[in-house]
Amino acid sequence: MTGKGQTANKVLVAGGAGYIGSHVVKALAKRGFEPLVYDDLSSGHREAVLEGTLIEGSLADRKRLRALLEAERPAAIMHFAAFIVVPESVSDPLKYYRNNLAETVTLLEEAVRAGVRAFIFSSSAAVYGIPEKVPIPEDHPVAPINPYGASKLFVEQILADCHRAYGLPYVSLRYFNAAGADPEGRIGEAHEPETHLIPLLLQTALGKRKSFYLYGTDYPTPDGTCIRDFIHVDDLAEVHLSALEHLLSGGESLVLNCGYGHGHSVREVVECARRVTGRPIPVEEKERRPGDPPVLVAACDRAREALGFSPRHDDLEFIIRTAWNWETNRRY
Ligand SMILES: NC(=O)c1ccc[n+]([C@@H]2O[C@H](COP(=O)([O-])OP(=O)(O)OC[C@H]3O[C@@H](n4cnc5c(N)ncnc54)[C@H](O)[C@@H]3O)[C@@H](O)[C@H]2O)c1
Repeated sequence: MTGKGQTANKVLVAGGAGYIGSHVVKALAKRGFEPLVYDDLSSGHREAVLEGTLIEGSLADRKRLRALLEAERPAAIMHFAAFIVVPESVSDPLKYYRNNLAETVTLLEEAVRAGVRAFIFSSSAAVYGIPEKVPIPEDHPVAPINPYGASKLFVEQILADCHRAYGLPYVSLRYFNAAGADPEGRIGEAHEPETHLIPLLLQTALGKRKSFYLYGTDYPTPDGTCIRDFIHVDDLAEVHLSALEHLLSGGESLVLNCGYGHGHSVREVVECARRVTGRPIPVEEKERRPGDPPVLVAACDRAREALGFSPRHDDLEFIIRTAWNWETNRRY
């Protein structure tokens, strides 16, 4: 594949008006890139786009996408656009395969046609399913247990094929639990419905929810609750910037875990949220939910070695403080 006169500092950010994408857009601009956010605002927010240009459009609109790529000639594409509610992917799998898989194929066809020099994909720890060992290395068997995770794995396989066939340079980033918010409080997590642990706890602290449902207290973990690897969204954004610079300087295609390599139990997170907010957070203990692995923790050596990733915010209290600051002063 040859470059076709791209504009070196332009990056198309599909889904850049969402939670993680908007933090990456902020980081891109800070590093001198020009983000072109392409988002249909199905779950994203216009106000979340602090930098660059927002183009309202769907990946389903190939004509629009092609015209944009032809007019702007971005050197790279970052792809965050997807539906993300795991139980909904079980009850309505075709909705997920349509958006997360079929529309990604459209984006990839146009990316290859435009000759982009870097493609960065938001994958997920969900590709591993129920892990056989933790921390989970990237060469751990992949066996997703829901259509959401399957859609991410299919895209990873398609990326590997596109790399082989067309020389498309890519990095697939398998996020563990993205958390926290912009330390300056301008952007943060705003999902509807909200399914993520920390915003649910903080909304309970604010009285927007009556109580927090804690699913499963008899897991084989020290306090009986699940353990997850939370990575601050600005550190996650930094991995994207490193991956982008790596590819643009000719680095090899990669599949990388994104986490801190250690986890916190749900009870620890509840306690930390009570401390940070100074409020009681009523908790209702429930049965385990099917499909929740006891421990999901990333092995992170590959991201460290390949990209020199070194986290700046590996601190649960900082993560929750930034999320609380956002939750109490939300702009959208
Ligand atoms: N939040 C997490 O902890 C987490 C963990 C693992 C993986 N991921 C992945 O990271 C990515 C971003 O997640 P998020 O939490 O920021 O979600 P989000 O819902 O906040 O962001 C997704 C964005 O994509 C847009 N979008 C969706 N379909 C689109 C389409 N067809 N055309 C154009 N825009 C479209 C939405 O409007 C939204 O702005 C997703 O691919 C998700 O699967 C997230």
